[in-house]
Amino acid sequence: MSINQEQVLILDYGSQYTQLIARRCREEGVLSYIERWDIPLAEIKKLKPIGIILSGGPSSVYDGNTPRRIEDLSELEIPILGICYGMQLMTRSSGGTVESSPRREYGRAVVNLRSGSRLLAGLEPEEHVWMSHGDHVTSIPDGWLQTAVSDSGVIAAIEHPTKDYFGVQFHPEVSHTLSGAKIIRNFLYNICDAAGGWSMGSFARQTIEEMRKKVGEERVICAFSGGVDSAVAATLLHKAIGNQLRCVLVDNGLMRKNEAEDVRKFFGKRFGESLIVVDASKEFLEDLKGVVDPEKKRKIIGHRFIDVFLEEAKKFKGAKYLLQGTLYPDVIESAQSHGPAAVIKTHHNVGGLPAKLGIDLLEPVRDLFKDEVRQVGRELDLPDQVVMRHPFPGPGLAVRIVGDITAEKVKILQDADAIFIEELRNADWYHKVSQALAVLLPIYSVGVMGDARTYEQVVALRSVDTRDFMTADFSPLPHGLLARISSRITGEVRGINRVVYDVTSKPPGTVEWE
Ligand code: XMP
Repeated sequence: MSINQEQVLILDYGSQYTQLIARRCREEGVLSYIERWDIPLAEIKKLKPIGIILSGGPSSVYDGNTPRRIEDLSELEIPILGICYGMQLMTRSSGGTVESSPRREYGRAVVNLRSGSRLLAGLEPEEHVWMSHGDHVTSIPDGWLQTAVSDSGVIAAIEHPTKDYFGVQFHPEVSHTLSGAKIIRNFLYNICDAAGGWSMGSFARQTIEEMRKKVGEERVICAFSGGVDSAVAATLLHKAIGNQLRCVLVDNGLMRKNEAEDVRKFFGKRFGESLIVVDASKEFLEDLKGVVDPEKKRKIIGHRFIDVFLEEAKKFKGAKYLLQGTLYPDVIESAQSHGPAAVIKTHHNVGGLPAKLGIDLLEPVRDLFKDEVRQVGRELDLPDQVVMRHPFPGPGLAVRIVGDITAEKVKILQDADAIFIEELRNADWYHKVSQALAVLLPIYSVGVMGDARTYEQVVALRSVDTRDFMTADFSPLPHGLLARISSRITGEVRGINRVVYDVTSKPPGTVEWE
């Protein structure tokens, strides 16, 4: 997090919506960061936030071991907005009362506003909001004002007339709160006196400048995949330091059809000498010969990847930094997790690299959410083909070929996958789904083609809709589209006579089959 920039601090008490609060502030042009609720006051002072938002949370202010910190924040003399649990904490610490209700209020609600509120200025007398709480405030602290009440009689908003303290029982960050953005804007601009102006364009310009200063004359090496995160990170760095950057794309032979070549062509034009493509497909396939166990496949690929990459790194002498496209959701230490490790996916393929290289990490997009990275990509003139690409796992098609891997199977799967993706694009479905893929199954089934009996392999198609890839639903692709894909794959890909569609959600399934 930057200490020189106008920013709002969000203290996370464990709400499922905390990240949304951060995004809403950013959308309104003010940079915002999430920290755990117990971040030391001295740290907060260093960051000089212009305001603080206390998130909601699953706890009750009356439970024994709940996060309670609030009192010392008043020392900062900056505006504070408490949302749900945050409002209850403020109430308790100022002498009001909070009570549990037997029934949780969850979902849409209507609140009636009193005039004169600074936080709710410009809203209608009656507003539709999103509630999600068990406890609620039953008497407000002395000197505070009640500024809204819900239809069911719950105190919905309070504020202190002089101290810049505000509380809302509902969730302004959730889109079902129709005037939520206005409330956030009021807080940022009318109460915290934000100057605003933070945008992806300004982020890109500042980051390029910061990176140029930080790197100086040093060299930076990057494990480049061509995916959106590494593409945006590398483009920022290339603009900052030009040929002091070396991006290494390791072609493991398990990428999508023509992918290594496409990436080389596209980014080669932009990066020039800064992009090296190493064809190590033979080595990878040799290592994987006869290996069936999914975890073994991952380990073998990870080890070989590190070997190939280190070899290239040696050639680029004296690199001082390793560039990585780490994103904000990977680094947020949420109040519900046990530190960053709990949220980082276990399958980060280059996990061992920084230690092996013994050099520092450079993570220019670590403050951004995925859709923000995409916007930065657009600012940098990266086309939709790159910016809107579905994620692709580091071990590539190896975890989509169930059973052992051969060059022939890779080719079959690449062809089937390419047809699937092409048809999704043609039908305008590619951007509607989060990730689509084909899986080659080690199953042979009987079919008939022309007049002849066939005995060939099965391809499973999988397409999922998800926000965070931790849970996912299968996509409701139209039957006509599935029929077209199936008939093209069985007609055009030798070795496949049957196509099935995976209708499993996650959980219990995972996105990948291995
Ligand atoms: P799962 O299969 O765990 O996938 O539901 C969730 C998301 O993670 C991707 N994935 C991987 N990405 N290396 C990666 O870089 C891996 O080993 C790996 N395994 C799964 C998967 O494609 C999906 O987007």
